[in-house]
Amino acid sequence: MKVSFIADKPATSALAVILVRDGLKAQGAAADYVSASDGQFAKAAKAAFFTGAKGQSFSSFAPVGSKVSRLVAVGVGKDNELDTEMIAAKVTKSLLMTRETSMTLHLGGLGLSPDDAARAAIGVRLAAYRFDNYRTKLPASKKPALKTLKISCDDPAKARASYANFYGPVCDGTVLARDLVNEPPNVIYPKAYAARIKKLEKLGLKVEVFGERRMKTMGMNALIGVGLGSERESQMVVMTWNGGKKGDKPTCLVGKGVTFDTGGISLKPGNGMWDMKGDMGGSAAVVGAMSALAARKAKANVVGIVGLVENMPDGKAQLPGDIITSMSGQTIEVQNTDAEGRLVLADCLHYASTKIKPKAMINLATLTGAVIVALGHEHAAIMSNDDDLAKQLASASETSTEKTWRLPLGPAYDRLIDSPNADMKNIGGRSAGSITAGQFLQRFVGKGIAWAHIDIAGTAMKPSGRHDPRETTFGTGFGARLLNRWIADNYEG
Ligand code: BES
Ligand code: MN
Ligand code: ZN
Repeated sequence: MKVSFIADKPATSALAVILVRDGLKAQGAAADYVSASDGQFAKAAKAAFFTGAKGQSFSSFAPVGSKVSRLVAVGVGKDNELDTEMIAAKVTKSLLMTRETSMTLHLGGLGLSPDDAARAAIGVRLAAYRFDNYRTKLPASKKPALKTLKISCDDPAKARASYANFYGPVCDGTVLARDLVNEPPNVIYPKAYAARIKKLEKLGLKVEVFGERRMKTMGMNALIGVGLGSERESQMVVMTWNGGKKGDKPTCLVGKGVTFDTGGISLKPGNGMWDMKGDMGGSAAVVGAMSALAARKAKANVVGIVGLVENMPDGKAQLPGDIITSMSGQTIEVQNTDAEGRLVLADCLHYASTKIKPKAMINLATLTGAVIVALGHEHAAIMSNDDDLAKQLASASETSTEKTWRLPLGPAYDRLIDSPNADMKNIGGRSAGSITAGQFLQRFVGKGIAWAHIDIAGTAMKPSGRHDPRETTFGTGFGARLLNRWIADNYEG
């Protein structure tokens, strides 16, 4: 979509969207449409029972003499703080199947900031997102036609800068994460995925790909073990962005990238198994965030690490009961091959702790079904060894609109993964399934590193029954915005 920011005046595009307050009060260019309509607007609004109350909307053919063909009025009540992103997303959703190719969204005269204007643009883009690459029979009439978006606002220069320097690249990152999650597992398997990440070097990222041979020499048996049943070679990809001061300790973002999770020998049931193509959502969020940081030239040093594996049952696959030695030297009894994400992350977290030595480290993973039982699909769960980091993430979560909720960690939970046969087992009991997974990960975090684990099993893949107009496909891209915001708020000062 081509996005531009223009001074607030009546549009020349096919669709024009205006925001109207209670009592049918319009402002800025919106008021010009109304006055030019010579009473027709008020009449049409009355017929549609539209008063400008929050949540209302109505669309009419534009008045004679206007250069637009359709005028859409959105009620915003008397709120002073408007969520422009959500308003824009909602109206886009309702208009997307019209055949119009251009839209102007009028935000002038409402006391909105340049950031509000930029956020409106990403609201439109997120709501217009589709994943139709493989639908060869989809008629053009079923594809969104919208190609050109103009945001008409009070300070277009500042809004343009806000979009170019922050919101645009962040939205690109979310879109990239969505694409990666939506791609099928025969397209995004570890090597193909690594090759896609390699392409991000054009943004100025350094991308290093580790194959099984190099991981083996480092002793990454926990990660490699998960991929033993797969014909496809496991990979670890390290992305480096050095936008901060030279010598400044980096922060680390780590992601679970199980490109397909069959469960392995502890095989999952067939029904719904196809959703497990999204089991690389954590890594997609990290890749999306790294691309956003690079594209907007973030003034911070950040290293992104993703472990890419395919979890398959096979004669060569690891068995329940196998005991493996992880890169950290700690041994793990693999009681359930379906608890594979934590095995992949264990080695990535240890690699990060010892080779990158970050001051803070966050990992994201579609780690447990239990987090869906606890929080549904509304919030991702955060577990952390550091209260300050947890607070930073709560705040970044608020501003980025990617919701999270903290769960506790503690020694009593940690005991649940002790094993008589090895240093630990990879599953706890029936209770606190998300927390015991968090405890497992914590055992691989280096001393003195502030760390948080975000379980996005409920939020990375959109279930039916969620109605956020910004989520249009299976892959939500959850996490890319949150991570980007966390870096922006805490490491670019
Ligand atoms: N990838 C799954 C978790 C998952 C479930 C993600 C549903 C998204 C939606 C993970 O690898 C897994 O299988 N976890 C097991 C852990 C159990 C064996 C301790 C689970 O949650 O059942
Ligand atoms: Mn699994
Ligand atoms: Zn998994």
